[in-house]
Amino acid sequence: MAESMQGLKRSHRCAELSKKNLGETVTVMGWVQKTRNTGGLIFADLRDRSGLLQITFNSDKLSEETFNKAYKLRSEFVIAVTGTVVEREGGVNKNLITGEIEIVAESLRVLSEADTPPFPIEENSKTKEELRLKYRYLDLRRPDLQANIMLRSKVCMLVRTFLADEGFLEIETPMLTKSTPEGARDYLVPSRVHPGSFYALPQSPQLFKQLLMCSGYDRYFQIARCFRDEDLRADRQPEFTQIDMELSFVDVDDVIDVNERLLAKVFKEAIGVEVALPIQRMTWQEAMDRFGSDKPDLRFGMELHNVTEVVKDCEFVVFKSAVEAGGSVRGINAEGQGSMPRKKIDALVEFAKGYGAKGLAYIAINEDGTYKSSFAKFMKPEEMDALVGAMDGKPGDLLLFAADKNKLVYDVLGALRLELASQMGILDKNEYRFVWITEFPLLEWNEDQGRYTAMHHPFTMPMEEDLQYLESDPGRVRAKAYDIVLNGTELGGGSVRIHQDDIQERMFEALGFAKETAYEQFGFLLNAFKYGVPPHAGLAYGLDRLIMLMAKEDSIRDVIAFPKVKDASCLMSEAPNVVDAKQLEELEIAVLAKTEE
Ligand code: AMO
Ligand code: AMP
Repeated sequence: MAESMQGLKRSHRCAELSKKNLGETVTVMGWVQKTRNTGGLIFADLRDRSGLLQITFNSDKLSEETFNKAYKLRSEFVIAVTGTVVEREGGVNKNLITGEIEIVAESLRVLSEADTPPFPIEENSKTKEELRLKYRYLDLRRPDLQANIMLRSKVCMLVRTFLADEGFLEIETPMLTKSTPEGARDYLVPSRVHPGSFYALPQSPQLFKQLLMCSGYDRYFQIARCFRDEDLRADRQPEFTQIDMELSFVDVDDVIDVNERLLAKVFKEAIGVEVALPIQRMTWQEAMDRFGSDKPDLRFGMELHNVTEVVKDCEFVVFKSAVEAGGSVRGINAEGQGSMPRKKIDALVEFAKGYGAKGLAYIAINEDGTYKSSFAKFMKPEEMDALVGAMDGKPGDLLLFAADKNKLVYDVLGALRLELASQMGILDKNEYRFVWITEFPLLEWNEDQGRYTAMHHPFTMPMEEDLQYLESDPGRVRAKAYDIVLNGTELGGGSVRIHQDDIQERMFEALGFAKETAYEQFGFLLNAFKYGVPPHAGLAYGLDRLIMLMAKEDSIRDVIAFPKVKDASCLMSEAPNVVDAKQLEELEIAVLAKTEE
C-alpha cells in the first residue's frame, strides 16, 4: 500500500545532515537499505544519492499504527520520515558520513513498496554484470555507480564553464546526417520520405564543426553523441560521447594550450589531482621506438631496445632473416623476472603469438650471471654477452625479443610490456601520466585496399616541411595531428585541418580519390571552402574514457548510465529488436529471411 507525499516536503538529503543539525526536525526521503529489529526498537538505514542515514523507530514514542508500518519495512521500500536529529545512541559508526547522528522518527510514510531485488544494492557488487545490466535501473542505485554518474555530470559542467569562459560557443550539429569519413562502419537510419535512402548517424561532428568555422563562429564546442558500428571492447561503445571542439586562426600549440588548461582545471576541481603543465610531448616515432605504442603508458619504464645492429651478423636465423627482410629485432627487459617459471614464459610466447608474432625469444639471466635461453645454442657466447649488455641485463632479469617487420615488433612488444606490467601489479590507478603524441604519419599503407588511407582523416594538414614528399614518398609525410594520452589510453585526438585547396587536392590524389568521388562524399565541405575559409584546428575527447580513468574504473560501461554489451545490444530494453511489419512497409524495407544452414 503506497501513500502520497501530499503536505510533506523534503528538507535535506540524507548525508547533508550532521551534528550541526542536532535537535532540528527534518524530513528525509529515500530507499530503505536495510532494517534491524530489536523488539521495541527498529533501525532502518535510509539511502539516497548523497549517502546513508540511520533512522530509529521507537515503539514508546510512536503510535501503534506507525510502529507497525516501520515493522513491515523491507529493503528498497521508498519512505518519507519526519523526525529529530540526535547523537547516535550506539556510538559513532565510522563507516558512514552520517555516522555521528541518527533520526528519531516521529512519522513515517511508505511512498512505495518494493519486491525483493534480484541482487543486493551495495558497493563493489559481486553480482554478474549481465544480471546487473538487465536491471540497470537497480544497478544504478549502487553508490559506486552513482558516484561515477555524478562525477560525469560534474566534469561536463566544468568543461562547459571553462570553454564558455574561453570564448567557445556550444552549438548542436545534426544526428541525421550523411556518412562522415571517420572510417568506422555507419549506423544507418532509413528515410520514409525517400524510400531506399538512408541517413547515417554521425561518427563525430567533424564536417559540421569545420563548416561552423567557415561560417565564422570562431570557437565551437559540443558534448556530442557519436555512433560507430565497430567491434566493442572495454573502452569502446557503439554510441559514446565526445567533448568536441574546433578553433579558427590557430595552430597546434594554441589547441594544446587551451586543452592543457582545460585538463588541469577538470582534474583539479573534479578529483583534486594536480596536472603539471606543460604536459610532456612525444613524437609518434619516439613513442613507437620507446614503447611500441602510439598511446604509451608512462607510469612505468620497461622500454623497448632496438638490438638490430647487435644481432645482424649472428647465425640465429630468426633474427638474421628478420633483419635481412628489412625488419628489426627489439627486446624488453622485464627486470627481476628472471626466475619466471617456464610455464609462465610459454604463456607469454602464446600471448605474443596472439599479436601475430611467430615466436618470442628469451634470455633469463640467472643470479650467477649464466643464461637460460631459447636461442643460446644458435649464438656465440660473446654475441650473447653483447646482446645482454645492449639490453642492460642484470642477474635476475628476463629479456624478451621479437624479430619481424617493424610494425609487428612494435605491436607485440608494446602489448607484452603492458601485459607484464599488469602481471607484475605495478600499474597505479592513482597516478595520472599524460602525454601528447605529435607528428603522426599522415598516411597509412592499407594492404587490403592497396592504397594509402588517412591515419586521422582526409582533412588533416601535413607538416609544412614534409609537403615536398606527398607525391614522391607519401609514407614519410608527418601530419599536424596530435593525441592526448593518459595512462596508456587514447583520451582524445585532433589535428590542424587543410584549408588550402591545392593541398587538399594533393591529399585526395595521395589517397587515390578521383576529384568526383571526393566531391560526391564531401562536396558541401569543399564547396564551403571556396567562399572563404579560416585556418582551423580542433580536437575531441572521449568523455567516457576520461571519466573511466578519473573514476579509476576498468570499463567505460561503469561510467555510462545505460551502456550496451559486446554484441551492441542493451540487455535491459532488449534493443535492437524486430519492428512491426507496418513500420517496415512504410519504409519500403523488406527483411530477408535468414536461410537455415
Ligand atoms: P577520434 O576518432 O580520434 O577523432 O575520436 C576522438 C576520441 O573519441 C573517443 N572514442 C571512443 N570512445 C568510446 N567508444 C568508441 N567507440 C570511441 N571511438 C572514439 C576516443 C578518441 O580519442 N573528429 C575527430 C576529432 C578531431 O579531429 O577533432 C574524431 O572523432 O577517446
Ligand atoms: P625455433 O628455432 O623455432 O625453436 O625458435 C627459437 C626461439 O625463437 C623460440 O623461443 C621461438 O619462440 C623464438 N622465435 C621464433 N620466431 C621468432 C620471432 N619472429 N621473433 C622472436 N623470437 C622468435
